[in-house]
Amino acid sequence: METNIPTFVKWAGGKRQLLEQFKKFFPKEAERYFEPFVGGGAVALYIIQKNNLKEVYLSDVNEELINCYNIIKNNVEELILKLKQHKENHNKEYYYAIRELNPSILSDVERASRFIYLNKTCFNGLYRVNSKGKFNVPMGNYKNPSITKDNDLRCLSKLLKNVKILLMPFDKVLDYARRRDFIYFDPPYFPLKKGKSFTTYTKDNFLEKEQIRLAEVFRELDKRGCKVMLSNSNTKFIKNLYKDYNIHTVKANRMINCDATKRGPISEVVVTNYAS
Ligand SMILES: C[S@@+](CC[C@H](N)C(=O)[O-])C[C@H]1O[C@@H](n2cnc3c(N)ncnc32)[C@H](O)[C@@H]1O
Repeated sequence: METNIPTFVKWAGGKRQLLEQFKKFFPKEAERYFEPFVGGGAVALYIIQKNNLKEVYLSDVNEELINCYNIIKNNVEELILKLKQHKENHNKEYYYAIRELNPSILSDVERASRFIYLNKTCFNGLYRVNSKGKFNVPMGNYKNPSITKDNDLRCLSKLLKNVKILLMPFDKVLDYARRRDFIYFDPPYFPLKKGKSFTTYTKDNFLEKEQIRLAEVFRELDKRGCKVMLSNSNTKFIKNLYKDYNIHTVKANRMINCDATKRGPISEVVVTNYAS
């Protein structure tokens, strides 16, 4: 089976670079897979391609992203056509005109193509909205951004054919998961340093309260007999929340320091409730 379909968006916290280190932590056997913070889906695509799963549930609270997954799954040819139009028209003026559009008045295919187009041409593939929920990232400096990769999208569409894609908050997974299911959580990470984001605001509004709720959900799934894996920042707070489980560390290259000379691999944790 094909095992290298790339993700269709760039996504902050993407796990593609960590897959090699993650392999040894994935359980040997699973029939049903859940990923409640799917984001760009690097881990999901790997797991689906490598395993013979009976059921897969991918979910997230980002409406635009979930709409894209559904359109890729159900209407990929129309999406490819719309992306071609964006590619042909791409320039600065066009980028800002498309950015201005209100996604809620567009058809689902137009909305998905707008999202992918902006993701592939905006600065750093960032996803950021203002307080009114409006995408506000400036155009990036790419000479020839790759906007359409038709065959990758077609392969992804096939791969998603039997996958359930849901718009829902992570704790809803409790309505579905049962014994022996495998659940991988990749939440917005807890900040490394006490700063503004620590007590007030993070992009996803994922604060201490949400991390504590996530640890409760992890515990509940553990009690049900599910296999649960989670990644997060290597911080005292997180290690304390999961102290009853196996805590491993991996090394990631993250662009977290604005001083390029101080950038380097940082350590992150992988928590599992099973031996690997
Ligand atoms: C770190 S990213 C996931 C990265 C992803 N695994 C990848 O490889 O690209 C976290 C994701 O959690 C989603 N998210 C934030 N709050 C959430 C919530 N309460 N429930 C479900 N998803 C949430 C965000 O929209 C984002 O896509």
